[in-house]
Amino acid sequence: MSIRSYPSVADESACIYIKNANCIKPRSACVITFGCQQNEADSERIRGILSELGFTLASDYTDADLVIFNTCAIRAHAEDKVFSLLGNLKAQKRVNDSLIIGIMGCMAAEHGTVERLKTKFHYVDFTLEPNNLGLLPTLIFETMSGGRRRFAIGIDDGDITEDVPVVRTDSYRAWVSVMYGCNNFCTYCIVPYVRGRERSRASADVLHECRELIVSGVKEITLLGQNVNSYRSDLTFAQLISEIAEIPGDFTIRFMTSHPKDASDELVSAMAKYSGKIAPYFHLPLQSGSNKILRAMNRTYDRDKFLSTVERLRAAVPDIVLSTDVIVGFPGETEEDFLDTLEILRLVRFDAVYGFMYSEREGTRAATFEGSVERGVRSERLTRLFEMQEPISLAVSQRFIGRELDALVYSVSENGIASATAVCGRLIRFEADSVGVGDSVTVKITGASSYELTGKLKNKF
Ligand code: 5AD
Ligand code: SF4
Repeated sequence: MSIRSYPSVADESACIYIKNANCIKPRSACVITFGCQQNEADSERIRGILSELGFTLASDYTDADLVIFNTCAIRAHAEDKVFSLLGNLKAQKRVNDSLIIGIMGCMAAEHGTVERLKTKFHYVDFTLEPNNLGLLPTLIFETMSGGRRRFAIGIDDGDITEDVPVVRTDSYRAWVSVMYGCNNFCTYCIVPYVRGRERSRASADVLHECRELIVSGVKEITLLGQNVNSYRSDLTFAQLISEIAEIPGDFTIRFMTSHPKDASDELVSAMAKYSGKIAPYFHLPLQSGSNKILRAMNRTYDRDKFLSTVERLRAAVPDIVLSTDVIVGFPGETEEDFLDTLEILRLVRFDAVYGFMYSEREGTRAATFEGSVERGVRSERLTRLFEMQEPISLAVSQRFIGRELDALVYSVSENGIASATAVCGRLIRFEADSVGVGDSVTVKITGASSYELTGKLKNKF
């Protein structure tokens, strides 16, 4: 793996051409994000590049001269949403024939999908996979100068591009990608194919970025990676997060998404040691509670190992908030296997469970497995899973009633209700009084539902 710098990757003459064109006739660009936080972070970099090219950034795609969809491929449903929104752009392009349409993100790294976009969606001008952001000016240039449509696919690229310009959505919280890609090849998952192999940023680059963010007043940093705790450079992930926690300042560190196999003792100890800085929250994706299915998924842990990880976390970080992902209806999942999953949820009592129906992804190993579970059964299992979890989430939420939680306000509605994320990750709503977005607050919790807490403002600082 090598580290490249964005200025050296971006085609200088393409950049000059676009900037000049935008000087003569300013154009607006809109980036629409689908999917996970990694995509949110990538969109901030796409906006950074566009802004440097002289585009003004629009939040409504119907007014824009350049529309980029930053897409997600994790489940068929995610792709369907993109295709359906793409239909709207066809009419927009008829009215504005200089409209440029680009598809980026994970769908742009799937050969089959790119072929479909190429042959069936003639109004799409280019696709660009996530590992090659530096090519964006070239593709825009080729479209603006009347060139052919471009469908770049270079997903094996294992390099990291540093110094990509970024337009951050918020000034008080920030994403920091620390690693990209995944080597785990869980058999249902498309990510290793579309995001490539694991590669970690140099710790010095990550630390430099975090220091700058903290000096600029950012109060919450979320370290991102498809498999964040597999981070490896000269430091382990536990060492990296400890070094970040040592940076002077008043801020919270979060990280996602983790693989249970990498929830090392070293990481758990770092969370305990820096409990004032590292959020007492862990997203620990279970996927299934059946050892047979876990093996078929290539998850590399079993029920007992998973339960002991939960115990280790709870022993080291008292009252830690835990959430998980579960897939129902994986090929070969019997009623018994599903009941094993429900049993683990009953045993662990997660704060939140994100449940998904298995979605077959072309190119993954599971797509070749026999024992497909009928759609109706998948959907019925998902309903039963939620029905079982709902009262657990409610009961677990109620432990916060009467406590005072520190939180960061991220929105205030027109009717004066503030929404804030507690340090532990829970969502809190309360009457805003004089608070605004980005304020740090203490809220006394007075009520709890299964997915949010309500309370009264105690302090603003
Ligand atoms: N079908 C259903 N859910 C999936 N996930 C990943 N791939 C699939 C798939 N093919 C879920 C996993 C993962 C979350 C981000 O999405 O639970 O943790
Ligand atoms: Fe997908 Fe598994 Fe990698 Fe997560 S760890 S991105 S589920 S292959």
